[in-house]
Amino acid sequence: MYKLNIVILAAGLGKRMNSALPKVLHHLGGKPLLAHVLDTARALSPDGICVVYGHGGEAVPQAIADATLTWARQMPQLGTGHAVMQALPHLDNAGKNGMTLVLYGDVPLTSVETLKKLIATAGEKTLGLLTVELTDPSGYGRIVRNSETGKISAIVEEKDASPSQREVRETNTGIMAIPDRYLREWLNKLENNNVQKEYYLTDIVAMAVKDGVKVEATQPHHAWETVGVNSKAQLAELERIYQKESASKLLEQGVTLIDPGRIDVRGQLICGRDVEIDINCIFEGRVQLDDGVKVGAHSILKNVKVAAGSVVAPFSLMETSEIGRNCRIGPYARIRPGTRLADEVHIGNFVEVKNSAIAAGSKANHLSYIGDAIVGKNVNVGAGTITCNYDGANKYQTIIEDNVFVGSDTQLIAPVTVTQGSTIGAGSTITKDTPPEKLTLSRARQISIEGWQRPVKKSKGNK
Ligand code: UD1
Ligand code: MG
Repeated sequence: MYKLNIVILAAGLGKRMNSALPKVLHHLGGKPLLAHVLDTARALSPDGICVVYGHGGEAVPQAIADATLTWARQMPQLGTGHAVMQALPHLDNAGKNGMTLVLYGDVPLTSVETLKKLIATAGEKTLGLLTVELTDPSGYGRIVRNSETGKISAIVEEKDASPSQREVRETNTGIMAIPDRYLREWLNKLENNNVQKEYYLTDIVAMAVKDGVKVEATQPHHAWETVGVNSKAQLAELERIYQKESASKLLEQGVTLIDPGRIDVRGQLICGRDVEIDINCIFEGRVQLDDGVKVGAHSILKNVKVAAGSVVAPFSLMETSEIGRNCRIGPYARIRPGTRLADEVHIGNFVEVKNSAIAAGSKANHLSYIGDAIVGKNVNVGAGTITCNYDGANKYQTIIEDNVFVGSDTQLIAPVTVTQGSTIGAGSTITKDTPPEKLTLSRARQISIEGWQRPVKKSKGNK
């Protein structure tokens, strides 16, 4: 079996990002650019992955924190060839029959299929290059081919290219599969006598030709697979491409997207059958929507599981929660971390739920805060009910047992238990546990004042 090692170049500065954050840590689809490249690299099941880092220092390995990777620090950065040299001591490939695949940490969307194709063309005596035809090739290294045979003879960087070479539209993506048998030898021979005074990895192409090694070019399915991120504008463009692709995959699976151009998936969205998603929703982390779930417009769901048949009405914000079957959430609901709703629970407009379990069939339909609570079955929480869970120093639990009816505008001062079957009169402040099956209320008696006169407006002098 061939050995496959992958070297990911990620030491560059990313000056045009105008940011304190190292370029490869900027997010695309909810995760760092480098994490996309790593996922693709892992999908190829290589024997080893080495990331060359430099600018941004230890922030890069710290942010990625993966013990299966090796890291090679490149300081200073003297070019792409110099970068691969730094990885050599970390690669288990000396003199072996294998190949080293070079990827860029700032080129996030290369598909696994394209790389498999590239690897398949390369071999013991073949160097595989991923090239792409661009209408505007400016800035890229040009693929120079022999005018008679059409075979690749070299790559020239734009800054070193002659006017006729600059006309060439076939460009170097930078991604290549290099036979290990030659890798060290070629890298050792690199020189920096070029315009940029850098050790160009691309110079190994001419060396390969000289050594009788075949150079095979492969093209990606889509040109955007090889587009790198150098600026916020390019990052935004790639984000749109990524989102369009992710929306297409959802449509193929049978998800109804009212407008595939207006959905953002920044993580993993797992959908059952007949899921419907209205416009401008954002999904972050891992979101699971089971069969028949509907998500209304402008909703944001992060790390939530919604069981079959539930409906999230527009403008709802949900995080780190589990929702049962046939629930109704929103519009304008805020479901905060630690919320567990059983089946057929209704959470209505302007209701906030945090770190609470609500059992089947219970409802809080309007303007409430339910925090650190355990709510039983078939409970009705009236409009404006607040669990007062915080005394300014500590948080306490509220327990509302089965079949309780809480009248509107009630404050439940935790810790407190509203025992099963209790009815709480509207406008009550409940500070003590209530007995079961009784009406409990705390409210000043209503009085009416005899002979009371409504004040009248004082006149402002004569008019
Ligand atoms: C490189 C290629 C060029 C190709 C282009 C594609 C060379 C000499 N040129 O040019 O043919 O068309 O990419 O985008 O290889 N990096 C390091 N250490 C370094 C220098 C670069 O890690 O010392 C990393 C960068 O972080 C980046 C990648 O290598 O991820 C490419 O570097 P960049 O400076 O963008 O290369 P270009 O000069 O654009
Ligand atoms: Mg450069």
